[in-house]
Amino acid sequence: VRKIWLSRHGESEYNQKGLIGGNSSLSNRGELYSRALREALIARLPQEEPVSVAVWTSTLKRTIETARFLPFPKLRWKALDEIDAGICDGMTYEQIAEQYPQEFEMRKKDKLRYRYPSGESYMDVIQRVEPVIIELERERECVLVVAHQAVLRAVYAYFMNVPPEDIPRLSMPLHTLIELTPMPDGTMSVQRFPVD
Ligand code: F6P
Repeated sequence: VRKIWLSRHGESEYNQKGLIGGNSSLSNRGELYSRALREALIARLPQEEPVSVAVWTSTLKRTIETARFLPFPKLRWKALDEIDAGICDGMTYEQIAEQYPQEFEMRKKDKLRYRYPSGESYMDVIQRVEPVIIELERERECVLVVAHQAVLRAVYAYFMNVPPEDIPRLSMPLHTLIELTPMPDGTMSVQRFPVD
């Protein structure tokens, strides 16, 4: 059966500092993850026959660096870039709460529909990843999607039938390989492999 794997990028320099958005490189821990991911993925491949995996990343450095050691063809999707935090890009959540308290409250109240000024909402992201999902459905090979927290919540929700209101708070930790396997009844089974 054709599997789909999802992974966030390895820990980035921005993750380390608690900053959102940006286009930073991997931290040392993140770099270790990029190597461990190769081993974790290879261990999940069927051993009977050689399989190729299509590796899809965003256009941001942290996903490209995370995919670097994977011995498979890669494709970059702008549609997989992380949610655009607009005027809050590069800030910590504490800084946002302090400098834009109203924005912070509005997002807490309605995280699904809240749109960052000059940026995006989860609704925007859900719409934006639609072409990627259509291609994922069409693709015949196994695919590993290396992307970002908000974007992967949207992709995961599509395959797992998560109601929209729950999407913005789905658990999507770093350094975890999520494996989706299609079941005969048309649903997906999910397994999570912590990689560290
Ligand atoms: O902190 C990492 C990150 O990918 C940010 O770049 C992004 O703004 C955020 O996660 C999305 O998660 P949430 O919607 O929970 O703030």
